[in-house]
Amino acid sequence: MPVEEIRQRAADLRQQIRWQDHRYYVLNAPSISDAEYDRLMDELRALEDAHPELITPDSPTQRVGAEPADAFTKVDHPSPILSLDKASTPEEIRAWWIRVQKQLPGHTDDGQGYREGSAWVVEPKLDGLTVVLHYQNGLFVQGATRGNGYVGEDVTSNLRTVGTLPLRIPVVRRPEPRDHPEPKTPPPSLPERLVIRGEAIMLIQDFEALNQQEAAAGRSPFANPRNAAAGSLRQLDPRVTAGRPLTILAYGIVAADGPVPGTQWETLSYLRALGFRIPDAVARFESLEAVIAHCESWLVRRDQFPYEVDGLVIKVDDLAVQEAMGIVGRAPRGAVAFKFPGREATTRLLDVGVNVGRTGTLVPYAVLEPVDLGGVTIQRATLHNFEDVRRKDIRVGDRVIVRRAGDVIPYVVGPVIESRTGHEEIVQIPSTCPSCGEPVTSRADEVAITCVNVDCPEQRVQRIDHFVAVMDVDGLGQRTVERLVEEELIRHAGDLYALELQDLMALEGFASTSANNLIRAIEESKDRPLAQVIAALGIPGVGGVVARTLERHYTEMASLRRATVEDLESIAGIGPRTARAVVTWFAQAPNRSFLEKLERVGVSMCRRLLPEAAMQAARPQTGSLEGLTFVITGTLSNPRREIAALIERHDGKVTSSVSNNTDYLLIGESPGARKVSQAEAKGTRVIGEEQLHDLIWPN
Ligand code: IVH
Repeated sequence: MPVEEIRQRAADLRQQIRWQDHRYYVLNAPSISDAEYDRLMDELRALEDAHPELITPDSPTQRVGAEPADAFTKVDHPSPILSLDKASTPEEIRAWWIRVQKQLPGHTDDGQGYREGSAWVVEPKLDGLTVVLHYQNGLFVQGATRGNGYVGEDVTSNLRTVGTLPLRIPVVRRPEPRDHPEPKTPPPSLPERLVIRGEAIMLIQDFEALNQQEAAAGRSPFANPRNAAAGSLRQLDPRVTAGRPLTILAYGIVAADGPVPGTQWETLSYLRALGFRIPDAVARFESLEAVIAHCESWLVRRDQFPYEVDGLVIKVDDLAVQEAMGIVGRAPRGAVAFKFPGREATTRLLDVGVNVGRTGTLVPYAVLEPVDLGGVTIQRATLHNFEDVRRKDIRVGDRVIVRRAGDVIPYVVGPVIESRTGHEEIVQIPSTCPSCGEPVTSRADEVAITCVNVDCPEQRVQRIDHFVAVMDVDGLGQRTVERLVEEELIRHAGDLYALELQDLMALEGFASTSANNLIRAIEESKDRPLAQVIAALGIPGVGGVVARTLERHYTEMASLRRATVEDLESIAGIGPRTARAVVTWFAQAPNRSFLEKLERVGVSMCRRLLPEAAMQAARPQTGSLEGLTFVITGTLSNPRREIAALIERHDGKVTSSVSNNTDYLLIGESPGARKVSQAEAKGTRVIGEEQLHDLIWPN
């Protein structure tokens, strides 16, 4: 091949790979398989190996490759990388706005009135590390950490390894094979020099996977995604960084020597158009009260972000106004951080207690010096298991970091080693069960320490409590379950259904109304869906999701009970461990008699027919759409593939484009104009979902 042709091919491959990187990392929507991607990369590598003179600095092959450095060199930032002032309550947000408005010319001090035409952009406050990204003629040339705000550290080689970071901007969209011809949007204009501000973070799912990997390799895990991101970015060897799942989100322009957008809102769109990933859930408001309502609504939804967010940032949309408001200290007046309550605190570990779970696992918990964690006083936190305690070297008397995320029970992250006095005590692993006193066992292949006594009272209580919680028995708390077991009124959950009014009335705290209500609630729980009953049994590894999967394959408990490990393993979503646990559970005599008891008292053991299934059972099951071909366009009541599956279940066919063979064009909301006009031209019948149902289930 002539060199010119090779150069052309290499350029084409690079463009294809860059677009695929963008689809994969930024849009989260790859359009080719990993194998196809690897083929492109292999071909490019082969061309570059044969012709090293053709390698370009922005080639996707150049992401990893730099040699380890001895130290980071310093980089002067083009303008100070400022930080943010904080506001923790709606009042503080209002006070911030009243304060900063005064900085503007033409301000009238009526205390309340928001300026005509004011607008704000609200973004998540990303809990990562600030990075400053330099682009020269669209080429990524340098990346630095924030450092002290004026001088940062050069981490260019490390940043190059991050998939979300475009090495060349704008990332040019390549037409996909399935694309419809559509008007081309011109690429955004690009100043010769452009410096962008963003945050290096680690997605929570990546963080968890990384920690599992670290633990498997015998290394200690990272305390939180922020530490993991920081540790990964500040590596002297870029090959280490390359193996760490970092993500970069861009949210601002630090410097440019050409025209760039004049508002924050347009800046975000511009950055996205250039090929950057930007923060999720950004919003623009024209009233401060709407900003506040938005901030408050995210307080309880913060876990919906795929990364750690420690608050929201409110920014004056008009960047010229922001600029005019000036700076106090090191923070711009025109932006403020609305901080969420903290999730970590340090306190002292006073003691370690032990709980026995329903499967007999001994679970250590921390008894803590009371500490405030985001408005809640914490005195207990889980320690997961004894292996975790050993690995993290948590000792009684240590200062420990406790953390609470979302609804999750608070847990101990680890000790603050620097605060040790030498008087801390190593946590002892119990040799007997704290509830029944029987010796405990630990299996070599499992971290758990277990009490195998099926009669262990604590396990009994836990099992019944689990059953009651899953079966939604209203008004039956763990304390009552404990008392019922202590009084020997019940031994297992099946006995609940034999309880009588007098039994309950004899217990302290029960009057006739509450006793009656509880009896009724227990009675009502007999009629739960099969999946709920399966989940309530307490089979290890069988929670709600697995139970629903099992329910889809077994219409009744009796057939599930007969299932073999092979049967179960062949179901998508059921692994070998769970399959074995299910078969083992049903094989054990006490479990069988428990199940029989439930059946005898009338707990439902069959799958109920769902409306659609009921409809199918009542009507001819297949064939009503036989020989008919459908094309679907627009948004329907359910995902398109489900509607297509419905049509196919009734022997219809679904194709993607209107042809002479199309019988019906099924349209939803905002249908594709092309398809509708093609159907009209060909005289194809156009129907909605209701008419589709009439075809499937004629009356
Ligand atoms: S804007 C001039 N926006 O939070 C504007 N900062 O306490 C100043 N941060 O280290 C910053 N997410 O890097 C801005 N969406 C966001 C942010 C954000 C996280 C960081 C920022 C700084 C710290 C300020």
